[in-house]
Amino acid sequence: MKILMVTSEIVPFAKTGGLADAVSALAITLEKQGHDVRVVMPRYYKIDRSKLSAIEEPLAVAAGQVETWVKVYSSTLPNSKVPVYFIDHEGAFGRDGIYGTKAEPDFHDNPYRSALLCHGAFQICRMLGWYPDIMHAHDWFCSLVPVLLKHVCRNGYFAHTASILTIHNLGYQGWYPKDSYPALGIGWDLYYGAGFERDGSINLLQAGISSADMITTVSPTYANEIQSVEGGFGLDGLLRVRSNVVRGVLNGCDLDVWNPKTDKLLPANFDYKNIANKALCKKALQKRMGLSENKDVPVIGIITRLADQKGIAEIFAPNYGSIYAMCKNMNIQFAVLGSGEKWCEDEINTLQSNLPNLRAYIGYDEGLSHLIEAGSDFFLMPSRYEPCGLNQMYSMLYGTLPIARRTGGLADTIEQYNESTGDGTGFLFDNLTPGAIYDTVGWAVHAYYNKKAHIEKMQKRGMQKNFSWEQSAKNYVLVYSDALWRGCGINTADWK
Ligand code: ADP
Ligand code: GLC
Repeated sequence: MKILMVTSEIVPFAKTGGLADAVSALAITLEKQGHDVRVVMPRYYKIDRSKLSAIEEPLAVAAGQVETWVKVYSSTLPNSKVPVYFIDHEGAFGRDGIYGTKAEPDFHDNPYRSALLCHGAFQICRMLGWYPDIMHAHDWFCSLVPVLLKHVCRNGYFAHTASILTIHNLGYQGWYPKDSYPALGIGWDLYYGAGFERDGSINLLQAGISSADMITTVSPTYANEIQSVEGGFGLDGLLRVRSNVVRGVLNGCDLDVWNPKTDKLLPANFDYKNIANKALCKKALQKRMGLSENKDVPVIGIITRLADQKGIAEIFAPNYGSIYAMCKNMNIQFAVLGSGEKWCEDEINTLQSNLPNLRAYIGYDEGLSHLIEAGSDFFLMPSRYEPCGLNQMYSMLYGTLPIARRTGGLADTIEQYNESTGDGTGFLFDNLTPGAIYDTVGWAVHAYYNKKAHIEKMQKRGMQKNFSWEQSAKNYVLVYSDALWRGCGINTADWK
């Protein structure tokens, strides 16, 4: 199949979260499986032009009210031949930040920036004379792709192209005032006609969900949760209407990057057959963080965007969160890596100045994230909601047992500890309260001190899990062919 990915983030060029890891690994795996995969994304200011190849022809893009001229650059994804085309436009993308900055968290001209990318994706196909079977758009920023395909471009060379929209996080929808609609470069007939209108504003994701041929999200449990009032962020009704085209496809892990046996960012490597070197990683982690180098005390890792979605209030909020009591009452250590909401960054710094057994690094650090995964005994992830989550999978592969809330992809990937057999791969709880976090950490720590054999059994089980992208990519191909069959007026579910 010819597949075009349209995305605002992809590793190694731009990343704010797991979306970037997921799109990169999916594209590379699909190519390995024999598909012709290409990617279109913005050329953000931070992406060095001198490392890209310039395409000489300038490109006219119909974003905004007058044509915008952009330049196109290209490169490839690492260890692959997957071409990445970058849309370069100083006014739209020549600034710090992908969606916004600390000063302006959500750029006011995001509708225009998004339109430039999405219209630009079609123009790049025309420029190349390469027309995909599938246009695969990711999240709200690329939601205009299915809209354009369904309502504007599905003719000529795009007559048989199908669109897939993957929702990596329903919490981010792209809401903007109605007066930014003209920036989208489409007629007012589509304001209602393609499902943009929401309470007098525009909602980009809503239009994407209304228009896409197939909709996927990143775990089967999350595919159900988004169709419920609790998990639907106001779009559950629409998603229920479209439920016959909603699928949950679990993300995988990029095992070239996240493999304790080969990981070059670790001081020592290990695998499930020989786990001894994990202790060296623990020692290195304690040293790097400034924790006492005690091999017998369990280290609990946290790596996260400091955002409400991740349950940060229940861990860190002053007078409410559980971490102070855990650090005081339990013989444990915490190694925390994160950045995000200011109140939380400040609170974590206050906590580490008062607690010798909590050390944190506020910022983004790829190398430290690997060391925390490898050197910790447990990994805490009490997400309010979690579409898939990558860190719990990395943890299991690194012999680090997740302590997590049973939601979304966490529920689909972690097996609950069985106290009588020692089966399972982690510790799950249901209610997001500071008390539940405290109790479940206590449960894990109790097992650590009293049930060594169980802990080892769980580590080995987790390390042998198959979280590779191969199966996920095959599942996406099934969704793609479903979409193409629908284009022929055939619902494959009717074959039974
Ligand atoms: P989300 O995309 O919702 O943030 P995921 O678990 O899917 O959650 O992916 C998060 C990714 O970002 C992981 O690869 C994780 O290691 C990485 N990450 C998050 N915060 C940091 C940080 N401060 N430093 C390094 N890596 C981080
Ligand atoms: C989002 C979700 C996360 C998921 C990632 C990749 O950022 O919050 O759960 O793993 O996308 O799909």
